[in-house]
Amino acid sequence: MRMRKKPNLSARMERCTSLLISSPKDYRGHWRELKPDAQELRLELGCGKGKFTVETAEQHPEALYIAIERVPDAMVIAMERCMAKGLKNVFFIDGDAALLRDYFSGNEVDILYINFCDPWPSHKHARRRLTHENFLVLYRGILRDGGEIRFKTDNRDLFEYSLFQFPKAGYKLTEVTRDLHATGIKGVMTDYEEKFYSCGTPINRCVGIKQHLACEPEFHPIAGPVPDYLQSETRKNQENTDI
Ligand SMILES: C[S@@+](CC[C@H](N)C(=O)[O-])C[C@H]1O[C@@H](n2cnc3c(N)ncnc32)[C@H](O)[C@@H]1O
Repeated sequence: MRMRKKPNLSARMERCTSLLISSPKDYRGHWRELKPDAQELRLELGCGKGKFTVETAEQHPEALYIAIERVPDAMVIAMERCMAKGLKNVFFIDGDAALLRDYFSGNEVDILYINFCDPWPSHKHARRRLTHENFLVLYRGILRDGGEIRFKTDNRDLFEYSLFQFPKAGYKLTEVTRDLHATGIKGVMTDYEEKFYSCGTPINRCVGIKQHLACEPEFHPIAGPVPDYLQSETRKNQENTDI
């Protein structure tokens, strides 16, 4: 389904302003101040319209949830859903996963969700995949040791590729399944997942646990503050977004 640019986006964002963290860099190392009793900080990359965000946060009021999304037209729907439920443990960043180390400090995040990220099927675009080794190394810089990346995708090729990437970046793989809902629906489904599931597409899932390494792998920042390809994609998506 194509999402048209919303003419009333600013007004809608304005109504959700209490959930939007407009300067995420200012919270680096201090996110828990948003919910001092939080037992965990959970971060979702590319939350889209936020079905998963809302339902997971509702089920876990003890956790602080931060959702990052680079397309405001999608994110505003997620924010409105949270407002409608009166959730107090969810906040949003209108930003890019490539900049996570600017937003979070070391050991700050307990659980990181990557749900149905763009597969970037062409080999020449492999570095853009959110489960590319370089991105997984980036996440090491914000996850605590023993912290988890919970990854779901409908795309089998991306999944098999990712299973190789996790160990290379120092994660132990666990809970690997190529048909998560084989014996009935498990866990909270995302907006995309619901659609794939209703078409009979098997859902792949795994969890990568961050292992302590004596020598941290080197993270290669993608050149520039925000890479060109992400900036142009963002603009393109804001005009006419696949969501
Ligand atoms: C295929 S959609 C999936 C949305 C949602 N997770 C779901 O499962 O329904 C991927 C989402 O990730 C967002 N996204 C992709 N790359 C991103 C990045 N580098 N940083 C933040 N968001 C990103 C896209 O804008 C899009 O909303």
